[in-house]
Amino acid sequence: MGARRVKGMEKNKRRIPVTGTEKITIEEGILKGTTWSTVQKIVKSGINTVGDLARQTPSQLAEQSGVGVDTCEKYIDLALDMVNEGYITGSQLYDRIRNNKRLSTGSRAIDEILRSPDDVREGKRGGIEEHTTTEVSGENGAGKTQLMHMLAIIAQLPEEEGGLGGKVVWLDTENTLRPDRIKQICENRGIDYKQILDGIIYEEAYHSLHQQKIISRLPKTCHDYDVKLVIVDSMMAHLRSEYIGRGTLAGRQNILGDILQRLGKIAQEHNLTVIYTNQIMDKPTQYGDPQTAIGGNIMGHASTLRLNIRKGRQGTRVMQIKKSPYLPELEAIFNITDKGIEDTEANLKTWEKEKDE
Ligand code: GTP
Ligand code: MG
Repeated sequence: MGARRVKGMEKNKRRIPVTGTEKITIEEGILKGTTWSTVQKIVKSGINTVGDLARQTPSQLAEQSGVGVDTCEKYIDLALDMVNEGYITGSQLYDRIRNNKRLSTGSRAIDEILRSPDDVREGKRGGIEEHTTTEVSGENGAGKTQLMHMLAIIAQLPEEEGGLGGKVVWLDTENTLRPDRIKQICENRGIDYKQILDGIIYEEAYHSLHQQKIISRLPKTCHDYDVKLVIVDSMMAHLRSEYIGRGTLAGRQNILGDILQRLGKIAQEHNLTVIYTNQIMDKPTQYGDPQTAIGGNIMGHASTLRLNIRKGRQGTRVMQIKKSPYLPELEAIFNITDKGIEDTEANLKTWEKEKDE
């Protein structure tokens, strides 16, 4: 490959997105012309595949690993040369996206509003797409954490059962993971709860700096344990309580931007799904949505899919798509029950009738 490289193209190459999906673990001798003891510092800081290294920015990597910026830039360049496939065509990109798995939510009604036009045409089940980041917002008690419990279970099931067949990272900022609830849902669904609990890698973030640190080390965790879903419940709890007042907003948004950017890269490199919950605030406005997710534009742009849960009639919940690259703002009604997330009786009856006709 090196022999065919045309001089002068190096600069342009760097602008082409990194598209390599084959993971290459960084081992001694993999990165030619580097000092292994220096590379080890980078690996120790949480970056242990060539793809992850290629996705770092020199300044971020220098900060987290303690290696000088210039060296980081040189190593990132080497990694880019190794993983860069150059361009791909729109058709290849289409095929790649079509192959993305879908994580079921446990409710057919929600999965149906999450079907892409291609899924509908091909009669495929919908769900939350692999390789993407999703925000789930909603008022207190809306059911965000309940949905995360459900997803932490389903993600570990095989693809035929709506899952992604891998482990789950649960990054907790509010003490929300309840193993007993996982056990209850599993038992009511005939799933081995012990295996599910063993498949959850739980990390508690004490404050936003810790949250950022855990996320900077996540690439290694995801690589080592074949993680398929990363849950952050909730994304803004620490940032919101630590940064109070208008003057601190820029600092808060910088950290949030860094965290979200890292999560997006992890979703790409490790073929997984990232889902985080978010709180909402009342917006004093006459127009538009009076309730809006916090985190501002940085949050809005970072998520591929934005979902909102609100309380509906008679204890039901309403899931609404707030933003999607290909779906309108559809809504689905569901229930929170002893089995986790379930469809409503009314929906089940309608589908039963449709089947008979
Ligand atoms: P915040 O984190 O406070 O913003 O709220 P949240 O959106 O995460 O709410 P959460 O997911 O914790 O939902 C709590 C609600 O879920 C409860 O008020 C109940 O209505 C429902 N719920 C929780 N556990 C169960 C359960 O075991 N059975 C049933 N039927 N409902 C439950
Ligand atoms: Mg919650």
